[in-house]
Amino acid sequence: MNRLRFRVALACWTLLMSGATVSMADDDSVAAIDSFLSRHWQRPLPPQGEAPAGFSPLESSLDPRACGACHPHQFQDWQRSLHAHAMGPGLLGQLIEMDPTNREEHQACLRCHAPLAEQAEELATWIAEGNSGAVPVTPVGVPTGPLFNQGLICAACHLRTWEIHGPPARDGGEKTAGPHGGFTADAAFESSRFCAACHQFEADGFALNGKLLENTFAEWRASPQAAAGQSCQSCHMPDRRHLWRGIHDKDTVLSGVEIGLDGVTATGPTLSARLNLTNSGVGHHFPTYVTPRVVMEAVQLDADGTLLPQTREERIIARQVSMDLSEELSDTRLAPGESISLDYRQPRDPQAGSLRLRIRVEPDRFYRDFYQAMLDNGWAGKGSGLLRRALDAADASVFTLFERDIPLP
Ligand code: HEC
Ligand code: HEC
Ligand code: HEC
Ligand code: HEC
Ligand code: HEC
Repeated sequence: MNRLRFRVALACWTLLMSGATVSMADDDSVAAIDSFLSRHWQRPLPPQGEAPAGFSPLESSLDPRACGACHPHQFQDWQRSLHAHAMGPGLLGQLIEMDPTNREEHQACLRCHAPLAEQAEELATWIAEGNSGAVPVTPVGVPTGPLFNQGLICAACHLRTWEIHGPPARDGGEKTAGPHGGFTADAAFESSRFCAACHQFEADGFALNGKLLENTFAEWRASPQAAAGQSCQSCHMPDRRHLWRGIHDKDTVLSGVEIGLDGVTATGPTLSARLNLTNSGVGHHFPTYVTPRVVMEAVQLDADGTLLPQTREERIIARQVSMDLSEELSDTRLAPGESISLDYRQPRDPQAGSLRLRIRVEPDRFYRDFYQAMLDNGWAGKGSGLLRRALDAADASVFTLFERDIPLP
């Protein structure tokens, strides 16, 4: 295993750090939630064991489609969420190169991406078979096939030793009868702490420039949205829907920011404009991770709409880190309430016919550069085909958040 991949593996959130229960027991209910969560998210998770004798085949299955037979709404939403795609080609392309018997190394990724013990078993077999040449390829789209391929599945969040846990029923409390023996209601499901298990590093986890690499829960806790009673679930699971949309979804991003354009001077020898972006409604930094990049840009176009590159100016919103994660290069992310502006001021090009202002979102910027480096340097080995697909998918995730062309007289 090469050093670069090891470092990135390390970075992508791992090893000794357990993204886990954030202890801050300020009252009894928080203490109860923390104590539930430290059991619920113990790593590695223990196997479920034998299903209870009276369970039907549907109730005895860990496959999300079995849960979906009775919970079609959650299944339909989940299918399209990134949690369902948490074992995509970018992951598998790295896992396939690991030693099939080194379970600890697998766990460094599976603990967040596919945490059930049963998924870990299947993955170990898959890697072993892959090493002998057979590399199954997941079709793009809805994940199918073995459990490990389906990423963060229903049972990983809801099932422990064949007991279903969920939020209190909408009409209150829990049910002790019904399919799968009823369910246990746990207030933790309605708490942001539930998400911290994978979206927050421990205080002594991997940090750069004194800041943890993954700090979403702490950012949220300091936000005005948290003070106003909005949890992770309020925004990412509205009305309990299993959507988990974030930086990859244009409407979600638009719901969290305000974009303004003013000070446009389109006449005379100097063109100027001011493009503003405010983190008005994201309950944490915009963006929260080191992996996305947001580019604000202004550029003049000629009469045919061709860019005049020498007239271009840009502002980057991102926490940029070096590929080997040895240093932080810049951090221009916006905490809740903060703004950034691109102040454009350039001589008008004699050929210019319009001025374009644009904001582009690159949700997987860090990963795409990483995949490219692995492929260019021949480090991907058996994972090459998978990483090439991951690179294509990362490129395809780029979208335009805002665009305005101002015609020049
Ligand atoms: C067991 C670990 C785990 C838990 C618990 C978890 N997540 Fe995630 N989450 C992940 C992983 C892994 C990904 C990345 C999936 C991928 O793209 O490969 C992710 C992705 C996301 C995304 C998509 C981000 C984007 O790039 O657009 C959102 C939003 C999200 N999670 C919110 C939540 C919320 C809210 C909760 C709590 C209700 C939660 N997650 C609980 C592991 C977890
Ligand atoms: C503490 C939880 C955690 C651990 C452990 C973890 N990841 Fe992730 N990973 C995430 C989250 C959250 C995201 C989505 C946010 C983002 O895009 O940065 C993600 C996204 C990714 C992505 C990009 C999305 C995709 O599906 O292609 C890759 C690749 C990745 N992780 C690889 C790894 C590898 C390899 C390991 C093990 C060495 C690992 N991760 C361990 C939480 C984790
Ligand atoms: C990342 C963890 C996670 C995954 C994966 C997940 N859930 Fe949930 N589920 C939750 C949380 C958290 C809540 C409570 C949300 C709230 O209270 O706002 C919930 C709530 C529910 C509820 C109660 C809904 C209601 O309207 O009262 C059901 C039923 C459910 N989930 C089933 C499923 C099924 C079926 C799947 C797979 C298709 C699934 N869940 C996948 C975390 C998860
Ligand atoms: C044979 C049908 C059936 C199957 C299969 C099934 N469930 Fe359920 N589940 C139910 C019913 C019925 C309820 C009770 C719903 C109610 O009373 O609101 C329920 C309740 C739940 C709840 C509690 C909802 C709440 O209000 O908190 C969760 C969570 C849940 N199921 C998750 C799952 C998961 C995860 C799977 C797959 C591992 C699964 N279920 C498989 C029928 C089923
Ligand atoms: C007030 C609404 C709100 C709350 C509360 C909130 N988020 Fe977000 N979240 C957003 C919006 C909007 C985006 C899209 C913009 C962005 O990526 O910052 C987002 C993006 C994300 C992403 C995408 C990755 C990235 O780099 O930005 C993840 C992961 C995520 N949120 C997890 C969480 C978790 C975990 C919590 C709770 C600790 C949480 N969010 C609380 C609104 C919210």
